[in-house]
Amino acid sequence: MSQEDKMNQQVIDALRQVVASTYALIGQLHLCHWNVRGKSFFTLHDAFQAQYTELFTAVDEIAERIRAIGGLAPGGLGNLAKMAGIPELAEDATAEQMVTHLLKAHQKVLDDVAIVRGKAGEAKDLATEDMMIGRKQAHQKAVWMLTSYLD
Ligand SMILES: [Fe+2]
Repeated sequence: MSQEDKMNQQVIDALRQVVASTYALIGQLHLCHWNVRGKSFFTLHDAFQAQYTELFTAVDEIAERIRAIGGLAPGGLGNLAKMAGIPELAEDATAEQMVTHLLKAHQKVLDDVAIVRGKAGEAKDLATEDMMIGRKQAHQKAVWMLTSYLD
């Protein structure tokens, strides 16, 4: 394997991790969307939906980027959950527990996105780097909103 191929493989592996953690976050957002209760039901029910809708579009683009640079995209709920390393919330969690939990999950995805960005930079893969900058922005916006809810 050439040095270029090695660097590309590292980008693929890091992107696969982002797909897994993003998918796990989508699953957690759904759980929260369905089970949130209390005075902020309407606000959070809608906010969680807005987030998983955005992520669902994004994860498709990330998986297709993996294909475009020669890798295979991970899939299957069990497999993705195993790869993701994101803990799962209890169904009866309070609204505040949900927001705290989702905040951590977004931060985990942000960490995974930063790893891809670094690897893509080394590989001079500007398109992947650009995509990750977009993902960073989206997750930071979500972090801002969830943090503001807790304030
Ligand atoms: Fe719904």
